[in-house]
Amino acid sequence: MANSECQSDVGGLRDTLYRPMGKLLEALTEIIYSHPVCNEPFSGGFNEPPNMIKLHPIRVVPIVSDRISLKGVKMTENKRVYNFSAGPAVLPLPVLKKAQEELLAFPGAGASIMEVSHRSKTFEPIIEGAEANIRKLLNVPDNYSVLFLQGGALLQFAMIPKNLLQGKKADYIVSGSWSKKALSEAKLVGTAAAIWDGKDSAYKRKPGTAELKWNSDAAYAYICSNETIEGVQWQQYPDTGNVPLIVDSSSDIFSKPIDVSKFGLIYACAQKNCGPAGVTLVIVRNDLMERGAESLPSLLSYKKIAEAKSMLNTPPCFAIYIVKLVTDWLLNDIGGLEKMSAINKEKASLLYAAIDNSNGFYTGHADKEFRSTMNVPFRLPSEELDKKFQDEAKAAGLTTLGGHRSVGGLRASIYNAMPREGVAALCDFMTDFAKKNG
Ligand SMILES: Cc1ncc(COP(=O)(O)O)c(C=O)c1O
Repeated sequence: MANSECQSDVGGLRDTLYRPMGKLLEALTEIIYSHPVCNEPFSGGFNEPPNMIKLHPIRVVPIVSDRISLKGVKMTENKRVYNFSAGPAVLPLPVLKKAQEELLAFPGAGASIMEVSHRSKTFEPIIEGAEANIRKLLNVPDNYSVLFLQGGALLQFAMIPKNLLQGKKADYIVSGSWSKKALSEAKLVGTAAAIWDGKDSAYKRKPGTAELKWNSDAAYAYICSNETIEGVQWQQYPDTGNVPLIVDSSSDIFSKPIDVSKFGLIYACAQKNCGPAGVTLVIVRNDLMERGAESLPSLLSYKKIAEAKSMLNTPPCFAIYIVKLVTDWLLNDIGGLEKMSAINKEKASLLYAAIDNSNGFYTGHADKEFRSTMNVPFRLPSEELDKKFQDEAKAAGLTTLGGHRSVGGLRASIYNAMPREGVAALCDFMTDFAKKNG
């Protein structure tokens, strides 16, 4: 066949197929073409349709690329960027690939996990496997239940006092935006008060032991393990004696080993370190679940949810499935939480060194002693430079670096799934940017 004949079809194909479908498909797929004469398969993306052969798309296959080019990544390309979002946040690439592989037909089910009953033999091992993984990773004692809930962390702000107060009062440590919000929600339910509030120090630190006067008759004591917005993290948890300690671990669960037996209840929304939004993990000591159980509506009662094995109603099956994959990854690919913690410490120290070695061009928010290994808020000398940094970083494939709207500046969230290479790329960019703009 003459080249001219081949070429004549290309323009038509671009107009009828490539332009309308391209935007959607280029984000998701790679096209395999066949040559109409020799039937040789030809693989090409929508960005650059080949122009010397007559195009016959024969199949469309999903692709994922884990490679990004630091300079000049176009957001329309289906390359993965380094995503520093505080949440929903980056997920481990092997998890996404596995989910992609099993999306259309989960092995043995012939259907997606989104399409099967939560009471089926397909889903049962998934929710049980997720729980077993969590128990193994955190060494959860037998007298604790592991629950999968909905309503995000925000519902826990109310569910905790609903279940645990029982006419008593609760002590809160307000160490940043999220514990502040938790306290204000608890006050809608019953009596709760701050025994320490870091407002005067702009939530840059946690309290020292001597600053804390816990009430021994409190129903519970409440802390936020890692303040996602201010980037302030408890390195050692406070001792509250016989008063059960409740912790919001939404942004640092699974980032390091913890002694579960020191807590009455640990909870975390999934969309930072365990999976996608839609499921909230609660690990609760069994005796605490008894409190208030009978008088509560079923879906607000830890006890009733535990009795129904987190399936009082339809659970967020797909989100739980991803939690299972993430915890598989932590156990099998990473090798457990000690190893994860070492990786996280190394990533955080790289980033804090880039801040500290910038001769004041970058300023971190948290006091050094309380710096988070997960969320690193920082500023440049002016808001204009903050903006310029974000824009240029985005063009270089380093995205979602804006600080929370309440504090401004920048924030890099470097959760478990952020690879070391991503942090190193950000550090290189920071050094380069400071040189050019400092
Ligand atoms: C520490 C912490 N607690 C609570 C929340 C609220 O989570 P959700 O949006 O799931 O209610 C967040 C969300 O960013 C958080 O970082």
